[in-house]
Amino acid sequence: MSLHVPRAVRSSLIRLDRGMPRRVRATRERPMIDVKDLTIGWGDVVLQKNLTFSVARGEVFAILGGSGCGKSTLLRFLIGLEPPLAGSIDVAGLGLPVLDAGLPPFGVMFQAGALFGSLTVGENVSLPLEEWSDLPGDAVAAIARAKLKLVGLDGAADKFPSELSGGMKKRAAIARALALEPELVFLDEPSAGLDPVMASDLDELIVTLSKTLGLTVVIVTHELESIFRVADRVIMLDKEEKTIIATGDPKALKTSEDPRVRAFFNRGKKES
Ligand SMILES: Nc1ncnc2c1ncn2[C@@H]1O[C@H](COP(=O)(O)OP(=O)(O)O)[C@@H](O)[C@H]1O
Ligand SMILES: [Mg+2]
Repeated sequence: MSLHVPRAVRSSLIRLDRGMPRRVRATRERPMIDVKDLTIGWGDVVLQKNLTFSVARGEVFAILGGSGCGKSTLLRFLIGLEPPLAGSIDVAGLGLPVLDAGLPPFGVMFQAGALFGSLTVGENVSLPLEEWSDLPGDAVAAIARAKLKLVGLDGAADKFPSELSGGMKKRAAIARALALEPELVFLDEPSAGLDPVMASDLDELIVTLSKTLGLTVVIVTHELESIFRVADRVIMLDKEEKTIIATGDPKALKTSEDPRVRAFFNRGKKES
């Protein structure tokens, strides 16, 4: 397939060198992600600072905070799309992800990470494999179908994205992020725009993938229900404070002494 794959999508893929995927060198005990004193922003603009947190292997870790506080931007830094202004990022024991030096061990579903409308769902999921493996076409198609099955989309391979519901599109995008069997995926607001039933189904899928594949999931969300359903641990970013104002088990944060944190976790209605 001679399709141009944007850099942002390429960055979501792992390189599968022939027969020898780049394996994580970190030991089991080491966190999947280790961030120390990180400052993110551009030039003189500091969006968030003093960010120190780690994500354990196999956990579902949520990045929370109001609109515009820098959640999506933090993901861009974690996957190596932007250089830290200060501090350090280690992903899977490999240091800061370097985009053009083979690919790091993660998949990404961007907030606006739409499927390519001119390709079938199967072709969309095949893209990472076409791009980074030497597998023959029928093997690629078979793997794409298997990934679609994994997310509950058996039989959708030949459909076009426009034929899918909102929830199915998100599942297909997750299948694409999983195409190269990463140990880590970043999901930016996967349930945004879905009705409550679809959102709840998607949360269930995320928890199942984490449990059955041992997948580490870093998810950006501000849907309270989702947070309580999926997240083992969270960090909460604050726009004014420009740093993390809470870390830990979301259930425990409901009774935080910080009124801003309590307000977030006990708010009556969802933010848009
Ligand atoms: N490349 C950029 N240069 C300057 N400002 C940016 C850039 N990307 C995002 N921003 C700004 O950073 C802030 C945080 O954006 P974002 O990370 O998307 O927030 P969130 O995902 O928490 O809603 C916003 O004010 C946005 O306009
Ligand atoms: Mg965002």
